[in-house]
Amino acid sequence: MTAAGRTQPTTREEHREPEASPMSRTEVVLATHNPKKLAELRRLVEAGGLEVAVLGLDDLPGYPEPAETETTFEGNALIKARAAVAATRRIALADDSGIAVDRLNGMPGVRSARWAGPGSTDVANNELLLRQLDDVADPHRAAQFVCAMAMVSPDGKEVVRHGVVRGRLLTAPRGENGFGYDPLFVPEGHDRTTAELDPAIKDAISHRGRAVRAIVTDLQGWLVAGDTTGGNP
Ligand code: IMP
Repeated sequence: MTAAGRTQPTTREEHREPEASPMSRTEVVLATHNPKKLAELRRLVEAGGLEVAVLGLDDLPGYPEPAETETTFEGNALIKARAAVAATRRIALADDSGIAVDRLNGMPGVRSARWAGPGSTDVANNELLLRQLDDVADPHRAAQFVCAMAMVSPDGKEVVRHGVVRGRLLTAPRGENGFGYDPLFVPEGHDRTTAELDPAIKDAISHRGRAVRAIVTDLQGWLVAGDTTGGNP
């Protein structure tokens, strides 16, 4: 398991005026082709008051897609972030996420995207999961979405943050928003699936939203401390 540490503020950081920070024009990379993930990180970076441009992989042709060979979300997120930092020499972020079902001992887990086989569709994955749980009554249909978000700097700092949202699985899909297992998943404290909830509400409670908000705080610390070579090359 890779260490998932938080950077500590430096003494220098405590005395630096925010206006004097070296944050302006810094570019960071999110190792994704998914425009929704990019937009989400940009929103949260902006909400955190960071003067950071977030680039996606479509902005940086030539990134070698690494194989996600680890058995944990954290491990796979780190593989992607390390590959992106090596290719771009910028601070790189990457996430890995999925659904972990209690009755299935945490599966599909890191295999969520391809649960029904390589290249499987969301519908096929959902149908398989429903079949696997067809004899499981409602009180035992608990599950959680999990997200690991990794951030790596060109000078070798690494941090991983996790976000989790617990809930339960329905016996039939409901809702049109979202993707993946959203039509089956009702978060705790709600009576609608994450495919029925307003996307802004999903962002606020979601595994990914939680992990991204935590890592944005880390990014702020790295940039204000100025102790990284994560600025533009
Ligand atoms: P990835 O980390 O974006 O590759 O997601 C892995 C897989 O986990 C997706 O293909 C979905 O099946 C599932 N997943 C991850 N996050 C969510 C979510 O927020 N809603 C529904 N399914 C998700």
